[in-house]
Amino acid sequence: MTADLRIDGDRLLRRIEELATIGPIDGGGSCRLALTDEDREGRDLVVTWMRDLGLDVTIDGIGNVVATRPGRTDGPPVMTGSHIDTVRTGGRYDGNLGVLAGLEVLETLSEHGIETEHPFAVAFFTDEEGARFPPDMLGSLVYVGGMGLEDALDITGIDGAEVGAELDRIGYRGPAPCPGPAPRAFVELHIEQGPVLEAEGTTIGAVTGVQGISWTGYTVTGQSNHAGTTPMHLRHDAGYAAARIATHVREVAECMGDRQVATVGRLELHPDLVNVVAGSAELTVDLRNTDETLLRAAEADVAAFVAGLAADEGVEVEATTLARFEPVEFDDRVVAAVAATAERLGHSVARMPSGAGHDAQMLARVCPTGMVFVPSRDGISHNPAEHTDPADLVAGADVLLQVLLHLDACDLDGEGDAR
Ligand code: HGY
Ligand code: MN
Ligand code: MN
Repeated sequence: MTADLRIDGDRLLRRIEELATIGPIDGGGSCRLALTDEDREGRDLVVTWMRDLGLDVTIDGIGNVVATRPGRTDGPPVMTGSHIDTVRTGGRYDGNLGVLAGLEVLETLSEHGIETEHPFAVAFFTDEEGARFPPDMLGSLVYVGGMGLEDALDITGIDGAEVGAELDRIGYRGPAPCPGPAPRAFVELHIEQGPVLEAEGTTIGAVTGVQGISWTGYTVTGQSNHAGTTPMHLRHDAGYAAARIATHVREVAECMGDRQVATVGRLELHPDLVNVVAGSAELTVDLRNTDETLLRAAEADVAAFVAGLAADEGVEVEATTLARFEPVEFDDRVVAAVAATAERLGHSVARMPSGAGHDAQMLARVCPTGMVFVPSRDGISHNPAEHTDPADLVAGADVLLQVLLHLDACDLDGEGDAR
């Protein structure tokens, strides 16, 4: 009876630990920036696991990897997955949990001889983090046709490398076509990366959608000058201008309140010397909100502030959009299936939006999509201290298994629902 089927938790936890040994950093996390040697090593390990399971592994033109287990019928698979690239100070669960739980689901089905109606697939998508090559969710964006492959291959990263050249260098520019085939349905298991589930003492999040994301890169050009001899009224200080932008976006978020968040994560001054007024500065602004109208209002406020500041300080400011995704709502049938399955398995569950971006927000463009969240200790993520209790990791993977089986058997094509 597949309703009682559960994953092998120890095997899942072992694979998470093993993958975490690739690109290890102090504190127990990983650094596997997209398309680096460490990313290649992680990819090779997971692809080996996929092939050892006898799965049909395809690699597409942007390096997305999809491993498929056949079903009774052909056609679009019930798909799960996430990413295995990390930020520079990554934890061991962000993305990795979703990919390895998906692999665990397929292995569990095989070892119990379960034949599903549709094929089941587990994927990892390229450059979900967008930390080296913006935008984030790049691979899944290309997979669903949201960006042309050639445009994606031409993207230059923060270190001057190009996506296409790096894909070739690590040997992951594959033959499978982009966009990829739309799955029957997509469900992603992910850590919450925030404080909500833990604060509420809830084990499972039935994710209702993903908030809007706006990334802007600014280049401020002023005039390099002597820190001691240049009177204040004669300065065109790129460092001061960058600092004012950083404090302003914080003020905008605090003034708007509710779900508005704002982050300046990158800030570089040139020539970056104690006794030189900065001639230029580069910084990034990350604005997010679950409400598109409010997000646009925040963007407009920041743009107006930057224009005024540039005029007052006598600096040039060039703005580049690095990522812009509107809020996404997941398919009610999938959200309901996650909630009902979590309850059936005896777990507390809450519906909630995602503060972080995920590949699922791209797959939602082409098929019924949802996500399963598990708690993050102290709400910490993008930090080696990222932690989720093993019992919660296993609970999330069991809910994923059962939701995918649900979506395999239910009537997604008619008006029926996935409950
Ligand atoms: O930026 C994000 O929210 C995700 O971690 N890529
Ligand atoms: Mn992630
Ligand atoms: Mn992340």
